[in-house]
Amino acid sequence: MHKKVYLKNFGCQMNVRDSEVICGLLKKEGHKIIEEPKNADIVILNTCSVRQHAENKVWSEIGKLAKQRTKMGTTVKKCGQTIFLPIIGLVGCMAQNYKERAFERMPAVDFVVGPSDIEKIPQIIKKLSTSGHSLSTRNLLERKIWETDGSIRPEEVYFTGFYQDREHVYIVISEGCSNYCSYCIVPYVRGPLHDRGHKDILKEIKMAVDNGIKRVTLLGQNVCAYNPGRRERGAECRKEVDFVRLLYMVNEIKELEEFSFVTSHPKDTPVDLFRAMAELKKLRKYLHLPVQSGSDRVLQLMNRGYSREYYFDLVDKYRKIVKNGALTTDIIVGFPGENEDDFKDTYELVKRIEFNAAFIFKYSPRPNTRAEGLKDDVPREEKERRHRVILELQKEISKRKKC
Ligand code: 5AD
Ligand code: SF4
Repeated sequence: MHKKVYLKNFGCQMNVRDSEVICGLLKKEGHKIIEEPKNADIVILNTCSVRQHAENKVWSEIGKLAKQRTKMGTTVKKCGQTIFLPIIGLVGCMAQNYKERAFERMPAVDFVVGPSDIEKIPQIIKKLSTSGHSLSTRNLLERKIWETDGSIRPEEVYFTGFYQDREHVYIVISEGCSNYCSYCIVPYVRGPLHDRGHKDILKEIKMAVDNGIKRVTLLGQNVCAYNPGRRERGAECRKEVDFVRLLYMVNEIKELEEFSFVTSHPKDTPVDLFRAMAELKKLRKYLHLPVQSGSDRVLQLMNRGYSREYYFDLVDKYRKIVKNGALTTDIIVGFPGENEDDFKDTYELVKRIEFNAAFIFKYSPRPNTRAEGLKDDVPREEKERRHRVILELQKEISKRKKC
């Protein structure tokens, strides 16, 4: 039976594309994607674990859904089993982070699916809609389903032909990350870096363009490290196609009007990339280059693999080669042990570089990460102050740069 599915997305662009993939897979099965949770048979939350705050928002959303469901939710009797509507699915990074522990925290959740297992969602929905599921906290796992093996996604998931936007689509070029920055949960929830083969990527872009898409953004946690030849995935992919080469290939796709990419890790960003950005007509002159901190001491603690001088030098090269190129960054304030001098280093870096925009985050300890073992010793008010100070500085810079 075809269902009405409401999907709510939390988090980054990678999740935006994953949500689109999930909707595409469900539509292929004949399910209807609806814009409001009201009247939904199934509610899917595609979630983010990068900071505690992001997770808290999801837990509270599930709490609200659970209340609604017990108060006035529809129950459907089927072969002696009771199905309570809507069925609630926790998907994405939080699903991988909590696995089946999510059911203990929120018994209302019916299924849990990690980012690498999303192709299993249609099958899970079929199973839950026919076999019934339980609201009872006794025998909690009895009728729950969880898929968190974290295998490599089958290529077909990217070819559903469903696009949320008429003009633009995100194209995943690599999944996961192997950098293990000490504060970051991504390698643990999205697995190690896996590059898609360049032929698959080009085929996907061509298909999107044939469907009327004009602009694409190539997506990965560390796009500059793209090199499928390094990995096992069929002999044809072992030939050297690095990220810069891939950009030249994408630029050749007729009917594609514009493309960009995100995110670049400074340690892997080659000067060749800047030459490509200067040369390739369709490639947007926009670089997102997260610096995270301006202090060498903190950069080392973060396991970022570069120094502040290296970052300045890279930005100088970018600006010399890519005339009028835009530059944005991410910054974390209040990392364990960040003292006033470290913070000043970040402040001065932001002042000197003059980013077009900066996304500033307060450090949030994450499970399994190396930084979790460090004392989260910058008080909350001090994190807030540092956050405010950099935000104000950047606001003033952004305003000036727009004029
Ligand atoms: N605490 C705060 N910010 C974080 N980020 C990643 N992990 C954390 C964390 N534990 C930020 C980084 C990254 C962005 C996507 O989120 O700045 O670049
Ligand atoms: Fe996280 Fe670092 Fe990988 Fe970015 S590069 S996803 S911050 S581990």
